[in-house]
Amino acid sequence: MSAPPSFMGLQHAAIKVHDFEAAKDFYVNKLGFTISEIYPPGTVGDFPFGLCFMRCTALHHDLNLIFWPEGEGPEPPKVRSFESMQTGLHHIAFQVEDRSALEAWEAHLKEEGIEIFWGPSIHSPKHPEGDGFWGENHALYISDPSGNCVEIFCDMAIMDPYTNRVNEFWFRDRLARDGHPSTAADPPVAWKP
Ligand SMILES: [Fe+2]
Repeated sequence: MSAPPSFMGLQHAAIKVHDFEAAKDFYVNKLGFTISEIYPPGTVGDFPFGLCFMRCTALHHDLNLIFWPEGEGPEPPKVRSFESMQTGLHHIAFQVEDRSALEAWEAHLKEEGIEIFWGPSIHSPKHPEGDGFWGENHALYISDPSGNCVEIFCDMAIMDPYTNRVNEFWFRDRLARDGHPSTAADPPVAWKP
């Protein structure tokens, strides 16, 4: 058996929404996405749904909305994807440049009256401001009108491929960028099964 070929990375997500107009308003007017193309239900091959391609980069689509004719779509879920026990996406995450960009998002979301249900929080068991969670990034979480949860984050840890531990240079540099001595903590130990 041969080794699997490699990926360049994870790129777009396609999410199902119960109210296309509400979703479009949320992603375009509140989160700043640009629509690349919209295909209404009935125009996407033999599929019953419509497709809206949206971007937050120079690429054609970073996010797709999947929607049905008005009144024919799924019921909105009673709980958001973060708490739902249904299979499917738990959340999707969009990266911003740094902590000040994340703070700008926090201020914008508050101004728009969008609930930040978690964060901004530094997910780290070691960082002096860390919340004790894992993942080594800095994130906040919101929900779209259909209950699909969106994370906005910065400072995702770079990993050392040889030790499977957070890269020590990255960790210490991030401490300094966050206003702490670069020796204030050590990177978390490598995860072991
Ligand atoms: Fe996440």
